Amino acid sequence: MKTAIYPGSFDPVTNGHLDIIKRAAESFDKLIVAVLYNNKKKPLFNVEERVSLLKEVTKDLPNVSIDSFSGLLVDYTKENDIKIIVKGLRAISDFEAEFQMALVNKKLCPDTETFFMTTKAEYAYLSSSVVKEVHSFGGNIREFVPQCVAEALKHKHTEVS
Ligand code: PNS
Repeated sequence: MKTAIYPGSFDPVTNGHLDIIKRAAESFDKLIVAVLYNNKKKPLFNVEERVSLLKEVTKDLPNVSIDSFSGLLVDYTKENDIKIIVKGLRAISDFEAEFQMALVNKKLCPDTETFFMTTKAEYAYLSSSVVKEVHSFGGNIREFVPQCVAEALKHKHTEVS
């Protein structure tokens, strides 16, 4: 049974993330989407909210489960006996940081392989930061995120303002 992990901040999940999740779920027996508790970044959505949105958008994908983790990714993969890390690549600009992370993870845990998936061209421009920025200035983000995320953003905006 090939289990893979797709780690990230997912603040919030975008259509680009969802595309990678769907395609990875077809390629592996089981996919765990893991949200990082990251003290360094100040997120818009807390981890519980991000996990809940991910659960909602993947509810029709039976081999996908959602979890969260803190600390090193390889500690989570070792504890859960996961050997495959999935990462999405949008552009060459992603490559340097992702390449470095893959090498560090390999060094820390030689058993682990990182699989890079290229994003669909139509999502190459998309990131959680772009979504938050456009939304914060009142722009239309309906084509960027699933419906429940658009609604959560609207509520968040009302909460904050
Ligand atoms: O969506 P993001 O913010 O680009 O995801 C980055 C993430 C969570 C995949 C990465 O920061 C990560 O794996 N963090 C856990 C800490 C870790 O294992 N660092 C070692 C690799 S340098």
